[in-house]
Amino acid sequence: MRIALLAGDGIGPEITAEAVKILKAVVSQEIEFDEALIGGAAWKVTGSPLPEETLKLCKNSDAILFGSVGDPECDHLERALRPEQAILGLRKELDLFANLRPARLFPELQAESPLKENIVTGTDLMIVRELTGDVYFGTPRGQRKDDQNRREGFDTMRYNEDEVKRIARIGFETARSRSGNLCSIDKSNVLETSQLWRTVVLEIAQEYPDVELSHMYVDNAAMQLVRAPDQFDVIVTGNLFGDILSDLASACVGSIGLLPSASLNSEGKGLYEPIHGSAPDIAGLGKANPLATILSGAMMLRYSLKREADADRIEKAVSTALEKGARTADLGGKMTTSEMGNAVLAALN
Ligand code: NAD
Ligand code: IPM
Ligand code: MN
Repeated sequence: MRIALLAGDGIGPEITAEAVKILKAVVSQEIEFDEALIGGAAWKVTGSPLPEETLKLCKNSDAILFGSVGDPECDHLERALRPEQAILGLRKELDLFANLRPARLFPELQAESPLKENIVTGTDLMIVRELTGDVYFGTPRGQRKDDQNRREGFDTMRYNEDEVKRIARIGFETARSRSGNLCSIDKSNVLETSQLWRTVVLEIAQEYPDVELSHMYVDNAAMQLVRAPDQFDVIVTGNLFGDILSDLASACVGSIGLLPSASLNSEGKGLYEPIHGSAPDIAGLGKANPLATILSGAMMLRYSLKREADADRIEKAVSTALEKGARTADLGGKMTTSEMGNAVLAALN
């Protein structure tokens, strides 16, 4: 198994180091990591946030383990050179349209959730976020002068029916493998894009009569996630709404430092990364929680490398470490990033 390892910026190198430690312990000699530059780190060396060489390595790897990109020193750059373009470019180039973002409450972390115990108990949901379309990629976009010579910025929210069909199917399949409930989240009361989304999701629903489909507007969904997160099982939604709702869901279950993700294409290629960013405010301080990245490693074993038992082992070790009181600062504790990694390592069996 050859894994492209893209540590990236900010806390990226600190958190990926812990995930690599755990993956090597679990699958020993059978896994090899090929490191490559990405994001601001790549721009500083090569002038590009996503060098050709990195893209080639990703295309030739069995899977990609990704840390995070984003660097305040690059905020002044034109959009094409910004670190964030690297992850957007990888998603697009590899057609990683299906982004799975599970948010589950570890019972040991009940007290770390900002929500009351009776509200957060039982939260275990999967956000299926479309990842290669929507306002993120729609054209035209740009900045220009309007007819009164004022500056204006504009983006285009758009989905075609094929893009909606394929992510809807992932949503239904995911629901089928879990509780059989799917909630599609849109803003079809206002947006044409969402109107098409809802129409297409309803059409695809005909193929899945065993799945119970509901629809919710995104503003209500944000409110419901805080009010009663356990009402959701599988959520399917567009790129922008999924981005926002997944950060929200992470806070419900304790910390953004906990949520992993898998980004998949139709050939089973996968990129695995925490849902959080490069956290420049804590970068280099050993404060970052590595669990989201460690759990992304588990998703990589499950989805790309078909090593379900090893994925379970890692997830159980995370639970055990938390049960024993392992806590980084985001969870109200004092452990460093590597101490948390070591706690998971010690809990592997
Ligand atoms: P962020 O997710 O980096 O950080 C938000 C807050 O959460 C910060 O206070 C941070 O310290 C905290 N946090 C994040 N991850 C943590 C962890 N593992 N442990 C403990 N605390 C953690 O979001 P932001 O501050 O809005 O963005 C910072 C940079 O990251 C920006 O350049 C942004 O574009 C980029 N970004 C990249 C990705 C990615 O690489 N996929 C995702 C989101 C944001
Ligand atoms: C995420 C991030 C990215 C997104 C950014 C960095 C492009 O926020 O992975 O959630 O918006 O998709
Ligand atoms: Mn995000």
